[in-house]
Amino acid sequence: MSVTDVPRPTVGPRDVLIEARAAGVNPVDHLIVKGFMSADPLTRPLVIGNEVAGVVAQIGAEVTSFAVGNEVFARVDPQVGGAFAEYVAVDQSLVALKPRDLSFEEAASLPLAGLTAWQALTEQTRVGPGARVLIHGGVGGVGSLAVQIARHLRAHVVATTSADSMEIVRKFGADQVIDYRTEQFDEVLTGLDVVFDTVGGPTQDRSFRVLRPGGTLVSIVPIADIDAKKTRWNVDARTFLMRPHGEQLAHLAGLVTAGELQPLLETVFPLAETARALQKVERGGARGKTVLTIPA
Ligand SMILES: NC(=O)c1ccc[n+]([C@@H]2O[C@H](COP(=O)([O-])OP(=O)(O)OC[C@H]3O[C@@H](n4cnc5c(N)ncnc54)[C@H](OP(=O)(O)O)[C@@H]3O)[C@@H](O)[C@H]2O)c1
Repeated sequence: MSVTDVPRPTVGPRDVLIEARAAGVNPVDHLIVKGFMSADPLTRPLVIGNEVAGVVAQIGAEVTSFAVGNEVFARVDPQVGGAFAEYVAVDQSLVALKPRDLSFEEAASLPLAGLTAWQALTEQTRVGPGARVLIHGGVGGVGSLAVQIARHLRAHVVATTSADSMEIVRKFGADQVIDYRTEQFDEVLTGLDVVFDTVGGPTQDRSFRVLRPGGTLVSIVPIADIDAKKTRWNVDARTFLMRPHGEQLAHLAGLVTAGELQPLLETVFPLAETARALQKVERGGARGKTVLTIPA
């Protein structure tokens, strides 16, 4: 991987060309770099990166929703990538206006994780008022937004995290926070409607037993032997891949403006230090998101 000059992307009739100011870094980026994404459709060499915030520099002939100079953000088409760059072309249906109150860095941290959390809680399951929901990884990129979205949906929110992050997860709206290093969540919880799993492994396995019959485990990492587990625990279980969605992103922007959703930034690296940013995300242990800043 190297930081180098490449041609500006071609702008199709429905594309918005974004002059990027910041890009969010996600676990999927280092998985792509390492070749660990089994269903990776991308051809090499490629410009990596999956989410961006910046200023509209040019629009295609059929673009009606955005104008040059708009401040926008987007989760880019996963088949294309390209967000770790000074210019990014994105279909207008994937783009939304950036909330005014957010910096470009904060805005760039939202699309992928925010849409993942939104789709998990409103499409894969329909979390409503009073639903009892457990969210694993309450201070992670996805989990920190999922806690706030579940609170917005007026659920009763339980979250797991490590001790030094319990306070911030409470501030995001969790009614109960469990330190996963010192307390076994499956010894203190039972009868939940939904578990949102962002962690996998033994945490995921143990999550089945805290659901009520007919409850739902929704995961963003694979679930081994899913049918056998559904039958054994008499629950629904599903795993999914998030998809880009400009309208949903605009809705999340509205939640930011209403004071109901706040991104959590861990570290900001300059674009030239993308390799260090990817290593940081790979190591884990972060509170919130790692972001690249891109000079104007
Ligand atoms: N399917 C999809 O569409 C989709 C979309 C986005 C992400 N993902 C995947 O989802 C996963 C999470 O993504 P992310 O961006 O949120 O990663 P992240 O920012 O690294 O967050 C992971 C969080 O999990 C916590 N954690 C680790 N072990 C835990 C345990 N045993 N119990 C409770 N929490 C634990 C970590 O906390 P500590 O620091 O305290 O360990 C960290 O806060 C990644 O595997 C990513 O590839 C999938």
